Amino acid sequence: MADRIPTLDDLGPVAGKRVLVRTDFNVPMDGGTITDDFRIRAALPTIQWLMSRGAVVVTASHLGRPKGAPNPKYSMAPVRARLAELAPGVELLENLRFDPGEEANDPAFVASLVNGIDAYVDDAFGACHRAHASIVGPPLTLPSAMGLLLQKEVEVLLGLRQQPKHPFVAVLGGSKISDKLGVVEALLGVVDSLVIGGAMCFTFLAAQGNPIGDSLFEPDQVDTCRRLLEMSKTNGKTIHLPEDIVGVDAGGNFATFGVRLPDGAKGFDIGPGLGSCFQRHHHGRTHRVLERTDGHVRRRAVRCRHAHGRTGHGRHQGVHRGGRWRLGGRAGAVPSGRRGRSRLDGWGSVAGVARAGRPARSRSVAKGTERT
Ligand code: 3PG
Repeated sequence: MADRIPTLDDLGPVAGKRVLVRTDFNVPMDGGTITDDFRIRAALPTIQWLMSRGAVVVTASHLGRPKGAPNPKYSMAPVRARLAELAPGVELLENLRFDPGEEANDPAFVASLVNGIDAYVDDAFGACHRAHASIVGPPLTLPSAMGLLLQKEVEVLLGLRQQPKHPFVAVLGGSKISDKLGVVEALLGVVDSLVIGGAMCFTFLAAQGNPIGDSLFEPDQVDTCRRLLEMSKTNGKTIHLPEDIVGVDAGGNFATFGVRLPDGAKGFDIGPGLGSCFQRHHHGRTHRVLERTDGHVRRRAVRCRHAHGRTGHGRHQGVHRGGRWRLGGRAGAVPSGRRGRSRLDGWGSVAGVARAGRPARSRSVAKGTERT
């Protein structure tokens, strides 16, 4: 990366200043109850850093996808209550996505966000690739920096990209290969293997000539997937595709299929087979990057970490309790051999944080992890 992204230190003295911190408090909820507060706790170091220096911290986040209208289901009230327990005195705005201006990056909405604010911090690792008002707007006019969480994500991922240690496995999920093409191509340059899960796998399976029933796929990306499969072979890389699929049959009954789906069946996710494959790659010798990994891969990965006594405490346990393995957000890097320090971090993008010493403008570090 040519330019340095400003860090908290670059903000200068923050005492008495109102600092807007864009967090990713998109926490899993069951009714009005937060089932995993990891993302709230992950924002605490930045919040505490600012508060300990006398800043007034105003946090802002999205929660779910309320599509530009207020919806009690997506109210930040439960998050605000939890945040008040963890960091008393911190403000939290209402769900940014209750306003259509957030996703539309409406300058009027940006203006309302920065009104009365002196500085901006982006610590929303899971959302920083979005060109939304709260991400790309404030750095246009305010001194801006990335928060400690985002900084850690960027450092780990840049380290893995620039000085990869082998064997290096990347696990990708999500539904659209088209969104991730750049990332897949870049990863194929550095990793030894790529594990493909999520609905994206159906486009790859189709590229191999497998019938995929009514599964979600991108017909216009079949050739691309074919090219990527060929490219991986030429470069001595392995793309691991599912060995089986879970979904529903034509009668709507849940079932596990081979990779050739019968007519009318709809695949949802990888079956246990690819999870086993991931586990084989997970014996403490690999470096891994995970993005939108699917249920089976996550569950296998967590089980494997337990089996190898490398789960550690705190972050992994908390996340595991919540039934998810999404430590830093959508993408993650897990350096091996660092017991107790392993983490999932991001290969997302830092869309809005200004370059140090330059006028702010929207930019992207590594695009392509966008969820569909
Ligand atoms: C996430 O959970 O991945 C982030 O909060 C981003 O959410 P989004 O995909 O709805 O933008």
